[in-house]
Amino acid sequence: MTGSLAGDHPALGRGGVWTWGPIRWRFTGYREELDDLVSNVVVVPFVGDRCVLVRVRGDGVTFPGGTLEPGEHWVSTAARELREEAGATLRGIHPIGLFECRATRRYRQHLPFPDHRRVAAWADVVIDGVPSSPAGAEDIAEVLLVTPGEAARMLVERGRPEFAELGLLAAAERTRLADEDWFRDVRLQLETLYLAADDPYLQSGKSGGAASWEMARRFTAGAIHRDGTFLDVGCANGLLMESMVEWTRADRGFRLEPHGLDISPALVGLARRRLPVWADRIWAGNGWDWVPPRRFDFVHTLPELVPDHLRGRWLRRLVGEFLEPGGRLILRFGDPYPADPDRRTLGDLLAEAGLRPGGELVRERPAAPAVRWPGWRRPDVPRPAGGAPGTAARSDRGRLRGARGPASGRTGRPPHRLCAARRCPPGAHPRECCRAASST
Ligand SMILES: C[S@@+](CC[C@H](N)C(=O)[O-])C[C@H]1O[C@@H](n2cnc3c(N)ncnc32)[C@H](O)[C@@H]1O
Repeated sequence: MTGSLAGDHPALGRGGVWTWGPIRWRFTGYREELDDLVSNVVVVPFVGDRCVLVRVRGDGVTFPGGTLEPGEHWVSTAARELREEAGATLRGIHPIGLFECRATRRYRQHLPFPDHRRVAAWADVVIDGVPSSPAGAEDIAEVLLVTPGEAARMLVERGRPEFAELGLLAAAERTRLADEDWFRDVRLQLETLYLAADDPYLQSGKSGGAASWEMARRFTAGAIHRDGTFLDVGCANGLLMESMVEWTRADRGFRLEPHGLDISPALVGLARRRLPVWADRIWAGNGWDWVPPRRFDFVHTLPELVPDHLRGRWLRRLVGEFLEPGGRLILRFGDPYPADPDRRTLGDLLAEAGLRPGGELVRERPAAPAVRWPGWRRPDVPRPAGGAPGTAARSDRGRLRGARGPASGRTGRPPHRLCAARRCPPGAHPRECCRAASST
């Protein structure tokens, strides 16, 4: 947290007493090592530049949040409460502070008492459902999308100046997130959610079991065109390393030597336990600054593992320092769902990085208009935007498309926020709306 609490956010800086406890509280910066006494979380969710407030029936407006269930980590609580109270899916969560609390009455047996902490975080979310309001949870009458200023005004009117200031603090912190906090938050979120699951697919971030895993991942084997070494940057529990060896052999007849890297030492520990024969080739480190002990023929990763402003340098580094000469960088990325129109495509991300794919594989997402496509680059990059065309290759899983880069006409499209301005014709896919808007 930067800035002066007392000066910029006096109600937060003063602290106070919540009469419903009663609970005496004071507000401090977030530190992960203080997570042990956490009992609650409050989230300031953002959709674009607007934040989400919920109106509790018979009560008033507030930010989503709630109490940890037994054994639950606050990140899981935040994801659950966003779904239950706002019908929202969590994309990224960033803790900004802690309410250090002392209660006079115990609320629930499993919660720390009398001293406990409430994590305050902001989050990027997608509203893709309605509040599920399960029995025993808050009864939500309305989900509101408002500017941080409007949210502050409504919360002050409701007599919650500290939450009004929390919303404003969240909006400010969102514009100045330090890279080290960004990486910490991605690690914290993914390791918490993956380690909370028993299912190996969920431990690699994929819901829906084996069939869904194959549908979303197997086509990637189409980018392997010979025997070689393979590194998965962001390997989670190692399932993709394992699957790629099998799929590449079965579908392509090639032999891969798998390796893995993950930013979470806890997930690396899980991967090593699952795959003991490869334990010495699964490393803990941040792909952004990790120095590889060797080069690889194939490097697979997801472009969203680093912040936007580092991505171009990072992708060029993967090509220049991780790949063997003649190797391939394989990027996998899902095109946005209609509910998520602000998210960019892989083509947009590569264009911003000044890179063009050497080829692309497309796997249509069932029952959705968006596509999923990885591209691979030859190591003779960076090639400037608009340079020589790349190559395309055929996959028996994905559909073949010609190489496409920044010169494809995707650039110059207005931001998807146009859709938020409600220019979409009723029922139109928001991205089509944007495309249409750019050509008129
Ligand atoms: C969605 S999982 C990907 C699992 C598997 N590679 C796949 O494609 O199915 C993303 C993983 O990347 C890891 N990760 C996130 N940022 C990272 C970074 N900067 N460097 C290394 N690993 C990172 C996370 O801890 C998480 O385990």
